[in-house]
Amino acid sequence: MCGIVGYVGEKSAAKILLNGLEKLEYRGYDSAGITVHNGKNLCICKKSGRLKNLEDALLETPLDGKTGIGHTRWATHGAPNAKNSHPHTSMNGKIAVVHNGIIENYDELRMDLIQKGYIFSSETDTEVIPHLINHHYRLNGGNFLCAVKATVTALVGSFALAIICEDHPETLIAVRKDSPLIIGLGCNENFVASDIPAILSETKEVLLLDDKEIAVITKTNVSISDFEGNPINRDVHHVTFTENAAQKDGYEHFMLKEIHEQPRAIAGTLRGRLNLCEPVKFDGLDGETLKNINKIQIIACGTAYHAGLVGKVAIERLAKIPVTIDLASEYRYNQPLTDNKTLVIAISQSGETADTLAGMRLARSLGAKTIAITNVVGSTVSREADGVFYTYAGPEISVASTKAYTTQLVALYLFALFMAETLGNTPQEELDIIKSELANAPEIFSRALVSEEKIEDLSKKICNERDMYYLGRGLDYAVAMEGSLKLKEISYIHSETYAGGELKHGPIALIEENTVVIAISCDDSLCGKMESNIKEVVTRGAFVVLLANDTTKLSHSSYNELISVPETLPLLTPLASIAALQLLSYYVAKNLGYDIDKPRNLAKSVTVE
Ligand code: F6R
Repeated sequence: MCGIVGYVGEKSAAKILLNGLEKLEYRGYDSAGITVHNGKNLCICKKSGRLKNLEDALLETPLDGKTGIGHTRWATHGAPNAKNSHPHTSMNGKIAVVHNGIIENYDELRMDLIQKGYIFSSETDTEVIPHLINHHYRLNGGNFLCAVKATVTALVGSFALAIICEDHPETLIAVRKDSPLIIGLGCNENFVASDIPAILSETKEVLLLDDKEIAVITKTNVSISDFEGNPINRDVHHVTFTENAAQKDGYEHFMLKEIHEQPRAIAGTLRGRLNLCEPVKFDGLDGETLKNINKIQIIACGTAYHAGLVGKVAIERLAKIPVTIDLASEYRYNQPLTDNKTLVIAISQSGETADTLAGMRLARSLGAKTIAITNVVGSTVSREADGVFYTYAGPEISVASTKAYTTQLVALYLFALFMAETLGNTPQEELDIIKSELANAPEIFSRALVSEEKIEDLSKKICNERDMYYLGRGLDYAVAMEGSLKLKEISYIHSETYAGGELKHGPIALIEENTVVIAISCDDSLCGKMESNIKEVVTRGAFVVLLANDTTKLSHSSYNELISVPETLPLLTPLASIAALQLLSYYVAKNLGYDIDKPRNLAKSVTVE
């Protein structure tokens, strides 16, 4: 999604803005631009396409100045071109604005402004903002803050804004409503960004803006107030991850780095929560709350939803309480049966996904207790949920989610154990066995990575396929869905997932000579059933890649290629089998030469519906 950077200080703003925008490239974008105050006027440079185009333009015509704002845009309203890219300015060039989010009432505001004589030069919803600020600026006798306040109270929708004004060369105003924005603190300089990695090379001290807050920022001061003008004191948050953690560390792509980081990320999620001989700790929830609920609803999107599918099985098996799982985008419009005896678990890596957030807000309005499982400290879901459990996976830069998924799985296993221990529905000896195996999860995942070379070779054989099919039963089916999503996202190969037992009810018609079928058979109790399903596709000529942990139970004729998955308890097999599927998609996409970390049409954080 779009990225924002702002700077006010004593250094060259353009350089800092470009550097910050580069760090935000992973969010996905189609154009970029900056505006710098040169002491007299606002000077602007915008280019469509990669950031390199903007950099080249700035080499030719540098912008000098010590205050500025920058933006990478991912088109929503209006084509992805330079005209529609940000910053947008008022007609007289006095006000410049960068914006993340959507202005829902822009049509109405635009008509009103046009009637007042304002001329629009883009097709964006954002452009109403600088015109409106300029309008109120004139009405308020040149009071910059009052003009911004009057403007934002008229806006409907979600917005993170960074704004500069020609008459105030050393001031930057930042506004947040339903779209993340942080302020970085420096010495004789301050920063604004939509995401921490953008400014991590400059500072680790940040202020997290909350919804409906405005900050007036100069190089030596930050003052925050709400939309009504009440001053707000905000504690400084110290960022604990390093800039290095947001870089590639010698890997060719962030995705590969993040796949390899999973043992460490999983250990981070477990730390302090799982100690053998002690009850499991689950932050944000107390036992009393759990005793008062009679059902659990999980809501999430994409990969987080796939983690939730595993979570449902784990919670039902261990805590023996009914769990439903819904795509957040469906839940919010399905008139869910949520009440004050329901616990709603919202899973979101970014903590900013619009549908998940809206689902969680709906659940709260229906009286449910809500708990967020998220990776981003201070994200909106974390702040709005009744309780929050951080996965502590470190920043995930690649658009295709990997370590976020495995750490969400771990969070859900911890939740299932915590609930089972609280309710006492499963014998403690059984839970102890799972706890001690879960403590080994980093090691299990490391063993799964050993197949990397074999997977790389295999990827060369199958990368030119047009379609692939994933098969599994039980938890293997849930993992297959995530594997198939990974493949689609970064290699653009069409793939579908079927539950083994469902094959003969239709999908088997798709299988022909050499159709690639990725079959997952890690659950001992379903091994025999899966073997029958695999035979059904082998008979029809499929090329079968089998992921299994105990091949002694499978006949050789049931696969063409075998990837061994480390042995673990049946409930935990997703943690062992997903590594091979992540690596397979990565190497298939790499063979095809695609932009793995920034797949087409996708954005890291989907903050619009
Ligand atoms: C897939 C992927 C997406 C996200 C989905 C939810 O690799 O990254 O499917 O999982 O957009 O995002 P979060 O977890 O941030 O709510």
